Amino acid sequence: ERQKHIRNFSIVAHIDHGKSTLADRILELTDTVSKREMQDQLLDTMDLERERGITIKLNAVALKYHAEDGETYIFHLIDTPGHVDFSYEVSRSLAACEGAILVVDAAQGVEAQTLANVYLAIDNDLAIIPVINKIDLPSAEPEKVRKEIEDEIGLDASDAVLASAKTGIGIEEILEQVVKNVPAPDGDLDKPLKALIFDSIYDDYRGVVLSVRVFEGTVKPGDRIKLMNGGTEYEVTEVGVNSPKPLARDILMAGDVGYITGSIKDIQDTQVGDTVTSADNPTAKPLEGYRKMNPMVYSGLYPTDNAKFVDLREALEKLQLNDASLTFEPESSQALGFGFRCGFLGLLHMDVVQERLEREFNLDLITTAPSVTYRVDLVDGSEKKVENPAEMPDAATIKAINEPFVKAQIMVPNEYVGAVMELCQRKRGIFDTMDYLDDIRVNIIYHIPLSEIIFDFFDKLKSNTRGYASLDYEIEDYRPSNLVKIDILLNSEKVDVLSFIAHVDFAEQRGRDITAKLKTIIPRQNFEIPIQAAIGSKIIARTNIKAYRKDVTSKIHTGDPDRRAKLLDKQKRGKKRMKSVGVVDIPQEAFMAVLQTG
Ligand code: GTP
Repeated sequence: ERQKHIRNFSIVAHIDHGKSTLADRILELTDTVSKREMQDQLLDTMDLERERGITIKLNAVALKYHAEDGETYIFHLIDTPGHVDFSYEVSRSLAACEGAILVVDAAQGVEAQTLANVYLAIDNDLAIIPVINKIDLPSAEPEKVRKEIEDEIGLDASDAVLASAKTGIGIEEILEQVVKNVPAPDGDLDKPLKALIFDSIYDDYRGVVLSVRVFEGTVKPGDRIKLMNGGTEYEVTEVGVNSPKPLARDILMAGDVGYITGSIKDIQDTQVGDTVTSADNPTAKPLEGYRKMNPMVYSGLYPTDNAKFVDLREALEKLQLNDASLTFEPESSQALGFGFRCGFLGLLHMDVVQERLEREFNLDLITTAPSVTYRVDLVDGSEKKVENPAEMPDAATIKAINEPFVKAQIMVPNEYVGAVMELCQRKRGIFDTMDYLDDIRVNIIYHIPLSEIIFDFFDKLKSNTRGYASLDYEIEDYRPSNLVKIDILLNSEKVDVLSFIAHVDFAEQRGRDITAKLKTIIPRQNFEIPIQAAIGSKIIARTNIKAYRKDVTSKIHTGDPDRRAKLLDKQKRGKKRMKSVGVVDIPQEAFMAVLQTG
């Protein structure tokens, strides 16, 4: 019967090891898309993903494979992101599968995120098919990597496929291994419907579209379904699969991965991780949901045009539907008006959300500098959570400020050990251990304040190690640190959204750096603007932006016309992203200045 010919699997890998390229080759080989339609990295549907060359949202496609045994199989391939910010999405897609292709770069070998993702797959009891990719590269060392997979992950890699997603070597063999080694789904067709929502999007015409993995029973148009967590009921209008465009089907049954629509308009009602069942004949127990991911980084998002506040809320609600790790609540700022405090998994996630809001919802936004959540012990014995530096209580009422620490695991070739340790030390890191993984690679563990990681740690790590280091981290605990709030005053007025928290030892330096930086970012006006940094009422740094002189635009009149047009365009865009605070115009860049110092 049909189930025996279904295979549900994901591809997991460290970032850049070639997952999306492999997915493209698989789509080509199975004729899911014609050569003409084939665009590189077809599964990365969002423009943003294509531009950055990274996968952000998971995507599921159904494809047909004619195997060597003469049978035709239905594959459901679920693509997953590889960046550390998005491991939540990885665990979601894995819960819908029986198998995973593990892609390892033949030149880079096993890296931090390879390990993290493969452990998620092992936790989900998936069959794992190791693939050593990029064997076309002159620097490829497939046999060494094979040994790494065995020694560091503990997987049998004797049958690992040697492949090149670029040239197409080994793709067929991978698909054969999927047929042979990934178990067919089981699940009783006659039992009540039980399906896992692993993703959902909002579509203006179809309403909410649920991506589901059916574990038991069947679902077809006309059925009444119930979302078990929320308790809401809907009539199904369409079921189908993505191939990769939506393709309606008569029915989805146990083992299938596809979508359900039911003119669900209220996006609050649907939750990723929830179980869909039959309203008339419900299943007794819902499926085990997902581990909830807590945001680690917070920042304020404000529309440049205050009238767009409601639009921003609607956009955030829609985005949240398809990005369960995003959180937001309203906040207001004296300087910026009404906006939202949003929680993100990391800086890349924050960037992606801001860009999606601007592109997909046509909003112009100001983002404030990211901050972590502090736990503050007050003199009166109570504890206060502070997600926004501006809300740090008065210093006199504080007994201690605790900040989140991460356990950071850095893998690096031994020649860069010194550089890595120096960086960690400078970022207030506490050394834990250092181990040699083989003759060359070293695994270094440090405990580092999360606030230091979210600034420019990753970029610095990459540049100090010529790109060779990989970083993986997890939040460990809260530890007391000697921290202070630093306020920024423009024209003698405190700008609440520019406040930040710093360690006492670095406070004065940071104050000096940031005032100097702001001086270069904030445009001159026809009067002098003092910039000050203060701790409480004590000024720790000051500088002035000189009054405007007429010749500042002369810069534009040089160079070729192309460049000039670009500059003007840039200026225009820059202008939009500007906020008047009192009498001073502050560009978006200024709100991020704190990230570039220290
Ligand atoms: P994320 O989606 O960002 O996690 O990355 P990914 O793992 O999907 O990697 P992607 O497919 O985007 O490939 C990363 C880079 O490696 C791209 O520049 C690819 O062209 C290149 N690449 C992928 N496979 C091969 C291969 O077999 N050989 C060579 N030489 N390059 C490859």
